[in-house]
Amino acid sequence: SADTVTLDDDGIPVVDITAAGLSRTPLQRAMGLAREHGPIFRRRLHGRDATFVTSLELVTELADETRFEKAVGPALENVREFAADGLFTAYNDEPNWAKAHDILMPAFALGSMRTYHPAMLAVARRLMASWDHRVAEGASVDVPDDMTRMTLDTIGLAGFGFDFESFGRETPHPFVDAMVRCLEWSMTRLARKPGVDYTERDEAFRADADYLASVVDDVISARTASGDTSADDLLGLMLGAPHPEDGTTLDPANIRNQVITFLIAGHETTSGALSFALYHLLKDPVALRIARREADELFGDAADPDPSFEDIGKLAFTRQVLNEALRLWPTAAAFSRQAKEDTTLAGRYPVEAGQIFTVLTPMLHRDPVWGDNPELFDPARFAPEAEAARSPHAYKPFGTGERACIGRQFALHEATMLLALLVHRYRFEDHGDYALTVKETLTLKPDGFTVRLAERTAAD
Ligand code: HEM
Repeated sequence: SADTVTLDDDGIPVVDITAAGLSRTPLQRAMGLAREHGPIFRRRLHGRDATFVTSLELVTELADETRFEKAVGPALENVREFAADGLFTAYNDEPNWAKAHDILMPAFALGSMRTYHPAMLAVARRLMASWDHRVAEGASVDVPDDMTRMTLDTIGLAGFGFDFESFGRETPHPFVDAMVRCLEWSMTRLARKPGVDYTERDEAFRADADYLASVVDDVISARTASGDTSADDLLGLMLGAPHPEDGTTLDPANIRNQVITFLIAGHETTSGALSFALYHLLKDPVALRIARREADELFGDAADPDPSFEDIGKLAFTRQVLNEALRLWPTAAAFSRQAKEDTTLAGRYPVEAGQIFTVLTPMLHRDPVWGDNPELFDPARFAPEAEAARSPHAYKPFGTGERACIGRQFALHEATMLLALLVHRYRFEDHGDYALTVKETLTLKPDGFTVRLAERTAAD
């Protein structure tokens, strides 16, 4: 390749990729560099370095909260341009992080999932109504597009009582397009060449970010106009709940940033996870059969199953399918850690306070701890005995520590229920013999993934 490789003073490979550039798939490019250069390397681009780590040994240390903490690395600095001090992009020491974290935590306790369950089920039914039409027409469905419709409507309704009505639209809600462009801007801004004028792109970005903010204002004013001041969803907590200790509430600018953050974080990655899970089921008839048996046992031959909140906890194998899909393609595929003080990594790499390391999650998820065929999709890896025998640091699709994903249970409840409903209802035809290509817009999705659906017959 055109990359030039040197070793730094500590023996870490420094791979300068400036000649070839970053490509449209920087994450997969970094995965390739890890395969070639090992579990720690610096990627240099136009003189800027990013240090990536991939091994269980190194990630276990980075997960040590006494020595390391979340870093808002360059990619998240760009996301801050539109999400500012929202929960995802806030600095650790920014007072609004702890404040919003404390106020919003109750919205993600297990009991709260129970209150979101009916909205999640209602939106799952919208998706199936739309797919039933496709079955009747013999048409295929665009899986990532429809998963995005589903997850956006779910976070809108469950979190904010706001209906994006995505299934009534030919094309995705404009919020989605603007959001995707903002995420793309955040990603491609990392690859900028010195001396090039990016004003036009920045202006387009600003227009998109302003549009996102205007949607958020609609969401907030719909609530305030309704006069509903009960605090039983996310927006209710944001607008009204006092901090458990000091009694203050979130300020209006921060509320806006939180709404943008949750609308994005609350749907984009879950949509990708569902799409990858369906892709793997399509390609793995054995796993599909087991998932289907599990759903059939729960739903019987009900034409329109009505799962309760508790039922979803019984879908153990379906949950394993999602876990395994998120192992191979964790849809938020990297997170960064910084040293809290001068320290040493793995007893051999000296580290200065503030130094940043980016965990390349898909490669951690292919570490030798996963056995000698890590590319194989195998939900049995998440059977309880197998999980208990493995280090908790081998699997990090939701990040780590205090700043790990607050919405994990929300995503898993929503996605497990939908997957079970889909395998119960449809037969999937791989009509285009789909070959996986992964699209990157800061998050990951299977690109151009369509399936044809049919009603199940007695033989399925
Ligand atoms: C944080 C992944 C779903 C809200 C994170 C982080 C990851 C992640 C890796 C940590 C980022 C870092 O360390 O820089 C995922 C994946 C999801 C998912 C893979 C779906 C499969 C959700 C949902 C919500 C959500 C459904 C909201 C309803 C958040 C928030 C944070 C976060 C607010 C920041 C938490 C904090 O720093 O206090 N997520 N997420 N996520 N996620 Fe998720």
